[in-house]
Amino acid sequence: MTVITNIQDLKDIYHRRVPKMFYDYCESGSWTEQTFRENTSDYDQLRLRQRVAVDMTGRSTASEMIGQKVAMPVALAPVGMTGMQCADGEIKAARAAEKFGVPFTLSTMSICSIEDVAENTTAPFWFQLYTMRDTGYVSRLIQRAKDAKCSALVITLDLQILGQRHKDLKNGLSAPPKPTLKNMIDLSTKWGWGLEMLKTKRRFFGNIVGHVDDVSDPASLMDWTAQQFDPTLDWDKIKQIKDEWGGKVILKGILDAEDAKMALNVGADAIIVSNHGGRQLDGALSSIKALPAILDAVGDKVEVHMDGGIRSGQDILKAVALGAKGTYIGRTFIYGLGAMGEAGVTKALEVLHKEMDISMALCGHRTMDEVSRDTLLIPKNFGGDWQ
Ligand code: GLV
Repeated sequence: MTVITNIQDLKDIYHRRVPKMFYDYCESGSWTEQTFRENTSDYDQLRLRQRVAVDMTGRSTASEMIGQKVAMPVALAPVGMTGMQCADGEIKAARAAEKFGVPFTLSTMSICSIEDVAENTTAPFWFQLYTMRDTGYVSRLIQRAKDAKCSALVITLDLQILGQRHKDLKNGLSAPPKPTLKNMIDLSTKWGWGLEMLKTKRRFFGNIVGHVDDVSDPASLMDWTAQQFDPTLDWDKIKQIKDEWGGKVILKGILDAEDAKMALNVGADAIIVSNHGGRQLDGALSSIKALPAILDAVGDKVEVHMDGGIRSGQDILKAVALGAKGTYIGRTFIYGLGAMGEAGVTKALEVLHKEMDISMALCGHRTMDEVSRDTLLIPKNFGGDWQ
């Protein structure tokens, strides 16, 4: 039995347990995957400043995101098809997040529905919204999130059209997998996953199936996106959705200071500096490199969060030190979920927490408030000297 000491350990187990098409779905970026790779590797260019002889007792990683208390400045990112990585995956991840004291964000493209997650948790969760051509459906979705007492709406702005991830096309990604010979051969080696999946009824897109009439193939994320996602989404529509929701709104997918200013104009409570985990515009800047310029542009006027590439507590510390008020983990919690279900998500959170706490202490800090750009050695032109 492996002693799990880091996120890579969870990823290794996850890789062995979960069908190839879902591992590949998680572990892909679009096209050449440059942005996907750099999201992770660009953290290496930042260094932490070691400081000594500072009393390190009484430490706390507690913080706040959009006015909500969090045990550490980390939320679980919305991840499509999470319930295909592990049976009832969204419920298990939401429970682990609740027990740990960090927010869970449910994707529109989840397998467990909004109602499933609400019935199986007690802490309010956040709901991520994709805007659809069918405005009636979007209104019903917003109402369902209100009924479920979701405490924030996370509107994704960078996926009006789907970036191509080659492996999903080659694998024929669907929920649930189709009974092709290739899939059956793969599933025969993933029996632990399969047995659990047989025990649950939640194997389809729970927020969609039964809630829309005219979808020809609700099994396919790619078909659904092509048919339904709203390519006309603009700032006016974002404002309308914000007004319809009436509660806290987080705008996800901001990578440019000009867009960050537009987000300010519509009155977002927070923005997430994000390139969708490198899954949309390949060739875009990594999130950690895009972060400083956006903070410099709007950081004093709106709460700035970020996602992309976080695989360790040191990565979180670096993002917070640059000025992010919160971070999100997507793949990093999926590795834990696929490896060990709810316990695996808890393990991932514990690993990150321990790494962050100890690193913070070795930088001479006891609380998140003390962490600042001064905690880092930032190379000149870290964000790039672009024309
Ligand atoms: C959907 O959000 C995806 O990135 O696949």
